[in-house]
Amino acid sequence: HTPWPGLIEAYRSRLPIGDGWKTVTLCEGGTPLLPAPRLSEITGCDVHIKVEGLNPTGSFKDRGMTMAVTEALATGKQAVLCASTGNTSASAAAYASRAGIGCAVLVPQGKIAMGKLAQAVMHGAKIVQVEGNFDDCLELARKTTAEFSTIGLVNSVNPVRIEGQKTAAFEIVDALGDAPDVHVLPVGNAGNITAYWKGYSEYFADGLSSRRPRMLGVQAAGAAPLVLGHPVKDPETIATAIRIGAPASWNGAVTAKDESNGAFRAATDEEILEAYHLLAKSESIFVEPASAASIAGLLAASKDGWLPRGLRVVCTVTGNGLKDPDTALRDIPVVEPISVDPVAVASALELV
Ligand code: F0G
Repeated sequence: HTPWPGLIEAYRSRLPIGDGWKTVTLCEGGTPLLPAPRLSEITGCDVHIKVEGLNPTGSFKDRGMTMAVTEALATGKQAVLCASTGNTSASAAAYASRAGIGCAVLVPQGKIAMGKLAQAVMHGAKIVQVEGNFDDCLELARKTTAEFSTIGLVNSVNPVRIEGQKTAAFEIVDALGDAPDVHVLPVGNAGNITAYWKGYSEYFADGLSSRRPRMLGVQAAGAAPLVLGHPVKDPETIATAIRIGAPASWNGAVTAKDESNGAFRAATDEEILEAYHLLAKSESIFVEPASAASIAGLLAASKDGWLPRGLRVVCTVTGNGLKDPDTALRDIPVVEPISVDPVAVASALELV
């Protein structure tokens, strides 16, 4: 049993890595695919969860970032830049510091979860708060990198990000022995759904799977441009990671949906929070709110009949719950201090 080498080494022949490039890796990828007994019972499907919050910086962004920063280093960039709702900035900061190059992150002022900000700070990134939303940040990042060629853009508009992220689909097929019938994931800027579809399609084309899944992309109801069919000017949702009104990979997402006979759907903040709690309490997986959108979408699709019983389903949960402690602690029950007494402890557990 050899240890997991990181996704570039694991899937090198399927990735655009130049000869002699020095790989920048934190051993990302190789994340668990957990069976979800409670969700399987509710939906009548065989549900598995791809737990991407167990990547090195706690989100799936590390899959794209190992590629993007490896490329940036190999092509002589002095620094990397990204726009981010938080996770991309945490990941860029970590991989840039590993590579020994600079990193700046453009984040929407006041709208990023505390844990993500802490990560960017700790890994030494320059944090630029922008008066605007993610879409404004991305436009600024694109303009800056177009003007300054020594700064590498590491958002998913950089195609190597998508290449790295497609490996999650490879891992799922490798683990299950075939592609699932349906794949559910949250959608914000739409890079990840584009990447999964590319991964599933490549394996299918090479005969490594017998089918491709129907793709179900779930957006937050207040930030659901793909569901509505047009950009949203002032996106709003508790799931700050997917608070995006004009997804850069719009076309990739639509292709994934159309070619797979899939669907987009919206989940309200209420449904997202309900799924967030269910996942933590029943499946013991603590995710951030944006990730719970995929579970909210799964439950709604099961309820309204879009998802028939008996299928094999994989849901990606994209980010770790520790990134956003504020949301977790919003409605904590008041706990009265107790006396130093075993009977008091047992009664707190409602056992006596
Ligand atoms: N889930 C989480 C936890 C995310 O951080 C993101 C995107 C998504 C889902 C959506 O993925 O954009 O590929 O459709 N976060 C980006 C960021 C925008 O800046 O960290 P997508």
